[in-house]
Amino acid sequence: GDVAVLVPAAGAGVRLGPGRPKALRLLAGEPLLVHAVRRLAAAPSVHTIVVAAPAAEVAAVRDLLAPVAPVTVVPGGAERQASVAAALAAVPAGLEIVLVHDAARALTPPEVVESVAATVRAGHDAVIPVLPVVDTIKEVDAGEVVLGTVDRATLRAVQTPQGFRRAVLSAAHAAAVDALTDDAGLVEKQGVAVRCVPGSEYALKITRPFDLALAEHLLTSES
Ligand code: C5P
Repeated sequence: GDVAVLVPAAGAGVRLGPGRPKALRLLAGEPLLVHAVRRLAAAPSVHTIVVAAPAAEVAAVRDLLAPVAPVTVVPGGAERQASVAAALAAVPAGLEIVLVHDAARALTPPEVVESVAATVRAGHDAVIPVLPVVDTIKEVDAGEVVLGTVDRATLRAVQTPQGFRRAVLSAAHAAAVDALTDDAGLVEKQGVAVRCVPGSEYALKITRPFDLALAEHLLTSES
């Protein structure tokens, strides 16, 4: 493999309700992070995995992942972006393709990882997996009154892993001023073209209790 994958997993996950940090919540008896890392490690392109864990859980996360795959675990930051930057700093020299993958997308198939990596390898500086948007999307004002309808055909729902040429991701993080919810957003601000490839419904972001229930169902009906 020639790819490093950064896994920001340091979030609290308040939207899932009270409990453990989100990446350590159980899905079919195993933490989300274990599911995510197992699928990353199954992708032939992946050489190195760097996980940003909650600062208080670094040792526990190392122990948890040791039997799953060889990983480097670093303390994350207060915001997702800081966690990504901390993980990026731990990538060994010589790996020129870097993917960023949210632990919350625990069921992302290895095929999506391969597709993103292959598209970066083919010469695209930044690559994101996407799905078409199925709902009609309205823009609203502060009083919940509709301002307009966005043309759904031009919209995409964005997943991870997002893939980058290493220098492009480093430059975008170095230049970042305000926090964004994804890394491609930082790269866009640098004027770099971001290429879309097909994502997967299995790459859903496990954010709310409903998503956890759906993921449990997918896992049990899979096997
Ligand atoms: O909060 P959100 O769902 O956007 O988090 C996306 C990913 O970023 C999760 O995997 C979460 O653990 C991670 N994260 C992080 N450090 C933070 C906040 C979120 O690594 N400070």
